[in-house]
Amino acid sequence: MRIERPRGTRDFLPDEMEKRRAAERVMREIAESFGYREVATPTFEHLELFTLKSGQDVVEEIYAFRDKSGRDLALRPELTAPVMRMFANECSVMPRPLRFYYLSNCFRYERPQKGRYREFWQFGVELIGSGRPESDAEVIFLAYRILKALNVDFTLHVGHVGLLRDILSDIEEKDRAMRLIDKKDWESLKDLLEKEGNLEVFQIVMNVSEAKTVEEVERIYSDFDYSYLESVFEILRSLNVEFVPDFGIARGLDYYTGVVFEMYAEGLGAQKQVCGGGSYRLARLFGGEDVPSTGFAIGFDRVVEVCDVDAERKPTVIVVGFGDSTKSFKVAEMLRNAGVNAIVDVMGRNVRKQLSYADSINADFAVFAGEELERGVVRVKNMKTKEQQDISIEELQDYFSGSR
Ligand code: HAM
Repeated sequence: MRIERPRGTRDFLPDEMEKRRAAERVMREIAESFGYREVATPTFEHLELFTLKSGQDVVEEIYAFRDKSGRDLALRPELTAPVMRMFANECSVMPRPLRFYYLSNCFRYERPQKGRYREFWQFGVELIGSGRPESDAEVIFLAYRILKALNVDFTLHVGHVGLLRDILSDIEEKDRAMRLIDKKDWESLKDLLEKEGNLEVFQIVMNVSEAKTVEEVERIYSDFDYSYLESVFEILRSLNVEFVPDFGIARGLDYYTGVVFEMYAEGLGAQKQVCGGGSYRLARLFGGEDVPSTGFAIGFDRVVEVCDVDAERKPTVIVVGFGDSTKSFKVAEMLRNAGVNAIVDVMGRNVRKQLSYADSINADFAVFAGEELERGVVRVKNMKTKEQQDISIEELQDYFSGSR
């Protein structure tokens, strides 16, 4: 019986995994260079961790289930809430600020399409304990540095969710309105605000979303203090970060309170948002202190799709045996000890077939487990140039390091 993968999930073959691991390495290295340290949380949590802030509506988008003891659980749809739960439970006395990063799979019950999966990965960071512009600037710059290092062609939009919340303060269905703004569903937003007799607000939201500078948006809506956002802009400009001020960013999740940002990459079609983040307050909701935090999550799968990264592959070396498997195993072990990835024949093939297999998997070298071994040398064949050479055991490491 043929069994298919569940809808919205993927298998990753070795070439794909190599690229994913290479991208992952870049992300980890850069995050660590900013002082972030890795954390991990459970794959499933109590459902209420995700409904406390967003209400029952989010259950629609969550893989929620009841376990055998009748507990309501959920596969994590994201990691900000889990990390803040962990912080409230276990890290509240640690010196602040805390800088955490993660790379984990997330699950959302969404309609699958290109770039949108039911199981996907996020690389994210949370900077916990500072409510200053420097912290927002740092996480934005970090996300920017990562996507630049991966040669992604993207644009960065930065705004402040407090502005839209302020404008919508008299609206009854604020959260719904924010979600419609996030989806840029202007028709439904207009209907909603018209129903509430507040078409004027609709016009302000439209104008604010189109403004390109702080001066411009200030002329449209002057009741908001733009100085915090301006401080973030100033730091970003000093770092030569290219960004677009965008006062219409609403973000899809409900917990944001301040500066928010999104990154969109070319070449991905409709699902082009490769990163989203901003500042929020969640710790108190989970029984902790009311600490300001900020962070982001990069859509790892989308970035892998469009990034250009070197998958540092070690040369593939095949040990060609002459019928004596113990010799092949010994030579392979010598190679491995010299830092080389060595493959032995487990099919009982003759020399010709072993070499043709080496060709078919694009091996870089064949090393013969022959009688030269007694002289302390092995015969090495470069599968690309077809040249053969005897190399002493001591020189193996040098010979293969740097070769491809
Ligand atoms: P988010 O915008 O919901 O934010 O997700 C972050 C990124 O995950 C998105 O920009 C997108 O690239 C990727 N993503 C989301 N859903 C899918 C999907 N179904 N398939 C593939 N990729 C997807 C958050 O999750 C926040 N926790 C980010 C954050 C961290 N804010 C503060 N700290």
